[in-house]
Amino acid sequence: MSRLLNGKVALVTGGTSGIGLASAKELAEQGAQVFITGRRQAELDAAVSEIGSAATGIRADASMLSDLDAVYAQIAKSAGHLDILFANAGGGDMQPLGAITEEHFDRIFGTNVRGVLFTVQKALPLLREGGSVILTGSTTSIQGTESFSVYSASKAAVRNFVRSWALDLKGRGIRVNVVSPGPVRTPGLGGLVPDEHRQGLFDALAAQVPLGRLGEPEEIGKVVAFLASDAASFINGTELFVDGGMAQV
Ligand SMILES: NC(=O)c1ccc[n+]([C@@H]2O[C@H](COP(=O)([O-])OP(=O)(O)OC[C@H]3O[C@@H](n4cnc5c(N)ncnc54)[C@H](OP(=O)(O)O)[C@@H]3O)[C@@H](O)[C@H]2O)c1
Repeated sequence: MSRLLNGKVALVTGGTSGIGLASAKELAEQGAQVFITGRRQAELDAAVSEIGSAATGIRADASMLSDLDAVYAQIAKSAGHLDILFANAGGGDMQPLGAITEEHFDRIFGTNVRGVLFTVQKALPLLREGGSVILTGSTTSIQGTESFSVYSASKAAVRNFVRSWALDLKGRGIRVNVVSPGPVRTPGLGGLVPDEHRQGLFDALAAQVPLGRLGEPEEIGKVVAFLASDAASFINGTELFVDGGMAQV
């Protein structure tokens, strides 16, 4: 059977849950060897057994540069190169202007911006010509959301990174793009509010989506596999929204 990503080597950061896990599964189903990272060992082990024999888990915090060095040392040793990098690890929580702390800002920008930057920069020696780098953005990169300004600004930064990086990587044949989900049913989204308010949050967000529902992680995974593949060979520097139309109307 011909698969989109036969023989490719991929790294998915934050590959143990939600969008990252679904994407890692899709990349593996399309024939790639997949390395995944996350900070929690138990979740890492569970994700590796869910993805199957194509997966290798490496415990690492994407905001820690020494952890990133260890990740790339292991990939260099066992695979020798990378074709696909999905820099997806990230997240945030809600604080209105007036209550934002240094800790809140540093933690969110530390993972979503600084972590993404060094995840990509440190991958460059391993990335082969024809490689694909995909970052996880968000509809918040172009929209305002109450109490979510730090997270939203971090995703606007992510979107802008690829505009410049497409130029910095000129001549290397490496494409770099952002996939920007709308609300997707993941532990990360549900964790924004206490358990008893989760369904209310999901219903309120679904009501803002023209398709009238949340996205599923697998729907993002399929787009990540497409951007990673040669089918997207002339797509570069773009932000691809997967949001049921939420930020497009
Ligand atoms: N769900 C949505 O509605 C939505 C919408 C737009 C954008 N996004 C973005 O999509 C990405 C994935 O979110 P999700 O909803 O799938 O969340 P999730 O279910 O909470 O998954 C987040 C993943 O990232 C890992 N992670 C978090 N911080 C990390 C760090 N510093 N280093 C390494 N791994 C880290 C987590 O594992 P550990 O906790 O074990 O490290 C987990 O594997 C994020 O960038 C998020 O901002 C989500």
